Amino acid sequence: MAKNKNNKAFWNLRIKKKGSSLFEKVGSSIDIDKRLYKEDILGSIAHVEMLFKQKIISFKIKNKIVYGLQKIEKQISKNNFEFDKKYEDIHMNIEKKLFQLIGDEAGYIHTARSRNDQVITDFKMWIKSATKEINLNIEKIIKSTLKLSEKNIETVMPGFTHLKNAQPISLAHYLMAYVEIFKRDKRRFINNLESLNESPLGVAAIAGTSFNIDRNYTSKKLGFKNPTNNSIDTISDRDFVLDFLYSTSVCSMHISRIAEELIIWNSDGFKLINLSDKIVTGSSIMPQKKNPDPAELIRGRVGLNYGNLSSMLTIMKGLPMSYFKDLQDDKKLVFDGFDTLNDSLILSLELVNSVKPNKKNMLKMANEGYTTATDFADYLVKEKNLSFRESYAIAAKLVNYAEKKNKLLIELSLQEIKKIYKNLKKKILKIFDVNNSVNSKKSYGGTSIANVKVMIRKYKKEIK
Ligand code: ARG
Repeated sequence: MAKNKNNKAFWNLRIKKKGSSLFEKVGSSIDIDKRLYKEDILGSIAHVEMLFKQKIISFKIKNKIVYGLQKIEKQISKNNFEFDKKYEDIHMNIEKKLFQLIGDEAGYIHTARSRNDQVITDFKMWIKSATKEINLNIEKIIKSTLKLSEKNIETVMPGFTHLKNAQPISLAHYLMAYVEIFKRDKRRFINNLESLNESPLGVAAIAGTSFNIDRNYTSKKLGFKNPTNNSIDTISDRDFVLDFLYSTSVCSMHISRIAEELIIWNSDGFKLINLSDKIVTGSSIMPQKKNPDPAELIRGRVGLNYGNLSSMLTIMKGLPMSYFKDLQDDKKLVFDGFDTLNDSLILSLELVNSVKPNKKNMLKMANEGYTTATDFADYLVKEKNLSFRESYAIAAKLVNYAEKKNKLLIELSLQEIKKIYKNLKKKILKIFDVNNSVNSKKSYGGTSIANVKVMIRKYKKEIK
């Protein structure tokens, strides 16, 4: 410890006056970036192994450092490590501890690197595993959604546009719209892996290094594909942070839509589903209540994710090359973005698992709002050789008639329908059957039962 007797931070040796304690508090990021400790230690071990391989440090020193780092890893994971704000961040806390454990030879660890490349190396590794964890959770939701879909291939409900009854659909088809959404969310996260797979380690402070290092070696060792190309860009770049925060924002926006939808379906106005007691909460005054609080949290928390993205975009705006302290707060935003989304995904899984469709009400509602009026118009086009616009006008008349008589389309008699269009036979009545309506939508991507079955099979194969 000879060179560190005074217990000063290593990078403060030229600074004579004691720093302000306020800055120590505000400038320190250890409370946040201690989450990077595993990656930091992995990165340091790969770095010293490379330094040894390149004959920059001796075998003995390399071993001593690796031994010390592994010991520190254990201490931190066992909660047996005291982090100190004075040493600012995770990198310096670990380095300081290394000095305490193995003595002055710890000083060789920072040869040919800087915290500037160190921090992004750790951070990229962390975001890579966070990305994988998110995608695993998305996959679980896809699986649950498919299970629910399989049970509801023939459950007919109204599809809504503008939240007005539009056309009858299979509930499974509706649910599998979510599957498509989640597949795109997964893809969006996977796309980010390309830049996350470039290793920053070895670009040092800004210019690269005069030591004969092997960046390909550390890159490979740490699971990256290749080293980054430009030292200046590398320490300036936080695009990978923005990509991650954007992907978390889009994904949380999607689950907020699903949550809102289920809140509406569960409402007393709609009564299309019930949510199991696991996912509802009571009221402190109204004994009858079962409120969908968790779904509301999912809906609301997308705001936090947008906030993180917009904060990071703002931090980056107008920032010249290369490293600035401004960038330190990127960790706070990413960790919060990850935690928020991951919690919401876990809640979403519970939510999907707790949905119990109210099939009777779905069918009833599918018959309301004249949802088969378009089927009638289509029939006239196909059977009576009318233009779609002509048949649309006739179907609109029929809807007006039904509305006046306060009847559903399915309740109209042949005679009544013939008042609107003469030349019709009894089989026209089938056109107003919502099941027939669903089954007639055989176009690719449509809601027919046959299509739905094919899609379930396809998704299940993909997800295996
Ligand atoms: N804690 C710093 C951060 O997260 C590490 C990089 C420090 N580099 C420097 N030149 N001060 O940004």
